[in-house]
Amino acid sequence: MTELPPIDFAPPDVGEAEAAAVVEVLRSGWLTHGPRTREFEERFADWVGAPHAVAVSSGTAALHLALVCAGVGPGDEVVTSPLTFAAAGEVIFQCGAKPVFAEVDPRTGNLTPATAAAAITPRTTALLPVHLGGYPLELAELAALCRERGAALIDDAAHAVEARSGGRRVGTLGDATAYSFYATKNLTTGEGGMLVTSREDWAATARLLRLHGMDRDAWNRYAADGVPGYDITALGYKYNTTDLAAALGLVQLDKLDVNRHRRLELAAAYDEALDGLPGIVLPPRPAADSGDEHAWHLYAVRVVEGECPLTRDELAAGLRRLNVAAAVHFHPLHLMSYYRRTLGTGPGDFPIAERLGRELLSLPFSPVYDAATVREAARRLRLVLDEAHGLP
Ligand SMILES: Cc1ncc(COP(=O)(O)O)c(C=O)c1O
Repeated sequence: MTELPPIDFAPPDVGEAEAAAVVEVLRSGWLTHGPRTREFEERFADWVGAPHAVAVSSGTAALHLALVCAGVGPGDEVVTSPLTFAAAGEVIFQCGAKPVFAEVDPRTGNLTPATAAAAITPRTTALLPVHLGGYPLELAELAALCRERGAALIDDAAHAVEARSGGRRVGTLGDATAYSFYATKNLTTGEGGMLVTSREDWAATARLLRLHGMDRDAWNRYAADGVPGYDITALGYKYNTTDLAAALGLVQLDKLDVNRHRRLELAAAYDEALDGLPGIVLPPRPAADSGDEHAWHLYAVRVVEGECPLTRDELAAGLRRLNVAAAVHFHPLHLMSYYRRTLGTGPGDFPIAERLGRELLSLPFSPVYDAATVREAARRLRLVLDEAHGLP
């Protein structure tokens, strides 16, 4: 059989405009964070509709700085999702605090106000939920819960740049919102992140801590009107970003609206092509009148145990044989060795998250694709299932 052309998981939508923007920075002679970074911060804050945006080196750095701004430290608990990326649990530990997991909703895979409330204790200083795959959290309700229980709301919007919750843009409802611009994300700078906050004091702290706690960054010192020298006023981190990344990000920001339409089109094409397959549950969609808007970072189907002839991992392996790359978001954190060892968590603690962790499969999805590519990925998925059913 001739080999089928590969369908990659999430190729980035970067082209000549990004290349030109990066070359311009290379030619400018100023590579690290400087004027392009400031412009990116201002334009990103405007786009979100939030007062402050602080550019950093990764989404992980944004999450970490947000927890530091919230004053999270030893003895504290931070409530988070078991169905999230390594970064969330990691930064809680790095603050000396303890991750406390809350169960997720079986439809969306997100924490809910009810599950979060059940996990909050008097030691909880922050809630750190994720908008899984871009499906928006119930932010207004979570913010009200956090106010009532004296915890900060830090939402992880690594998947949710374009999402809205109850009509409000994600990034405008929490104390701070963290974004990732990792290579596969809807807005990518290769690596990078942004901390968005309504709190001026948090923005000032994050700006200070992202560069070693120095009261003046390099641009402030070396620019024509800069002032040489600096003081170190706090213990900081090396979390700053570069003007190369910011230049890339500015071009990517301009593409978000157009790419969003493409993502909606691809999700609809997948829905149509995969409709009616036994044991395959299509991704949830927010109700039309809810004001919720999905960012469609991922298109993840559920491969339902006991209903589909293949397990999720068998289906993924079958797709791989047909040159289709699929991915898993996420393997539950509380089942990872470090967490089991450190927190004593294990199988059975969060049955819904565990089940979704075994069943969810993210299919190839990128604005560089057209509906025909997605239909071809769906066709190959049907081939794998037909083979499992013993069909010719
Ligand atoms: C949900 C989620 N949160 C946080 C991160 C961390 O972002 P970064 O890789 O930019 O540090 C990721 C990255 O993949 C993610 O998917």
